[in-house]
Amino acid sequence: MRPTLPLVVACLILTTPLFAQEAADAVAPEGATETGASALSERAQAAMDARDAGDPVVAQDWMVAAANPLAVEAGADVLAAGGTAADAMVAVQAVLGLVEPQSSGLGGGAFLVWFDAESGELTTLDGRETAPLDVTPTLFQDETGEPLGFFDAVVGGLSVGTPGTPALMEDAHRRWGNANWGDLLDPAIALADEGFAVSARMADSIANDAERLSTFPATAAYFLPDGAPLAEGTLLQNAAYADTLRAMQAQGADAIYQGPIAEGIVETVRSAEGNPGLLSLRDLAVYEVIERPAVCATYRDMDVCGMGPPSSGALTVGQILGISGQFDLSTPDDPDAWRIIGDASRLAFADRGRYMADSDYVPMPTEGLIDPAYLEERAQLIGGDQTDGFVALPEVSPGNPTWDHAQVWADDQSLEFPSTSHISIVDSYGNVLSMTTTIENGFGSRLMAPGGFLLNNELTDFSFRTHSDGIPIANRIEPGKRPRSSMSPTIVMQDGNPILAIGSPGGSRIIGYVATTIIAHYDWGLDIQDAISLPHAVNRFGTYDLEEGTDAEALAEGLEALGYEVNVRGLNSGLHAIAITPDGLMGGADPRREGIALGQ
Ligand code: GLY
Repeated sequence: MRPTLPLVVACLILTTPLFAQEAADAVAPEGATETGASALSERAQAAMDARDAGDPVVAQDWMVAAANPLAVEAGADVLAAGGTAADAMVAVQAVLGLVEPQSSGLGGGAFLVWFDAESGELTTLDGRETAPLDVTPTLFQDETGEPLGFFDAVVGGLSVGTPGTPALMEDAHRRWGNANWGDLLDPAIALADEGFAVSARMADSIANDAERLSTFPATAAYFLPDGAPLAEGTLLQNAAYADTLRAMQAQGADAIYQGPIAEGIVETVRSAEGNPGLLSLRDLAVYEVIERPAVCATYRDMDVCGMGPPSSGALTVGQILGISGQFDLSTPDDPDAWRIIGDASRLAFADRGRYMADSDYVPMPTEGLIDPAYLEERAQLIGGDQTDGFVALPEVSPGNPTWDHAQVWADDQSLEFPSTSHISIVDSYGNVLSMTTTIENGFGSRLMAPGGFLLNNELTDFSFRTHSDGIPIANRIEPGKRPRSSMSPTIVMQDGNPILAIGSPGGSRIIGYVATTIIAHYDWGLDIQDAISLPHAVNRFGTYDLEEGTDAEALAEGLEALGYEVNVRGLNSGLHAIAITPDGLMGGADPRREGIALGQ
């Protein structure tokens, strides 16, 4: 059962929508989907029934939650055979790249958060795409210096960054795996060779993007055979992908970063008709996964830990929770609770737009942004001196966190669109993995590499402008830099122990989806499935987005009375979470997509 959000009272005035938000809102390439139609195993069908009934999946030993039942099954088999969460991730990602190619794959990038049961330590792996070494600051500008239209930049070679996912899969397996690397790719190879039934979500995504997918012959041949979008249930084979995985079995990730597959990627990018890009063999050869410390913010008696720069995820989720956690958030049907969360989000997004980018390239006040004293000061803006009763903040601006290096940045102007996929895994050894993986826009650059996978358009996560009024923008494009992300793979810790793995797709709304699901679970006491299924209310830049067709619409009048502009729309998260409780593992999958949680 979805918790109910009641109706409240009248009117409003607040608007601080940015141009970037309006443009990004114009298109949502991945819409919400109901259940897929592929033949499901009994255990997968039971998991899907539980999800749709609003019940968490319960297990004692291990669990995996991800966006497609075939991928979850592959991961579950690895875990049941004694594999680690890192092993299972390799199997899940390899299958997702085949059966959910619009969202993630070998041509994309990912961030992984890992809790290591043996050491009790948390760490993160940054497998984000990098800008080619040949880029110049004006990559996404026309001859007059104006930003290109979003899809003019996305479709083609210009937007393709050096993929990071293959290297991340190998790196995580090398560090934490105990299964045979080659065996982990077998399930995806079998599905690619024998064929899999195209899911409802994949079929819808193709039909909705048919025009762009027809831009390049190799992409059109795969997704639009004979000119028509692949229908749900079609048995689809991908021999090139099977061959790529076989090459990875023999050579590891090197099979992607050098030799014929690398040459095919570069040739595809550089010869993209109408919009060639700059990726080179040198970019692929020098690509590296970077281990970075987890970024943790305090929320009540918990530490919410995730991916630091170049992701804005952990910092922005951490700011929202760190500010909101200073208030009593009452219940999910109270508009005032959503005022606190909404204004905390707006304050956090103001800081995100000003300060957050790849900290290997630009100085960032990383510690200062989640310093409890700073968040207390920001919380005062929400709960301070509003003597006439509390209303939405009329405007928000970036704060002044402490720096160890003085620097002035202009506010960011990058666009982000919802796509992406999230994987949560707990293995029987107690390791916990939270990984968000992407090719950016639905179907990425729409370029299909000869190896049977799509190439990302991650470079459009950079700001298209480099300066604003003469002041540099932190998230401007530079050679080798990693674009700022919103991906928020998260592990929540309490007293040094992991208690939740969670994350979601959804562009910059990922941040709100993750933060509000954590609030729903811990503040409002919803079980993890109900917390995921709770109708969304998300605020980034001022406008309150309410999930269309759900009880969230009932919040509209109350939020308008508090001064918000309300926008009722589809909000297609893909939350996958595992709560680690004294009663066992509780898994939840997002009913807005077609994933499941499986455990034993
Ligand atoms: N491209 C989606 C993200 O990194 O946030």
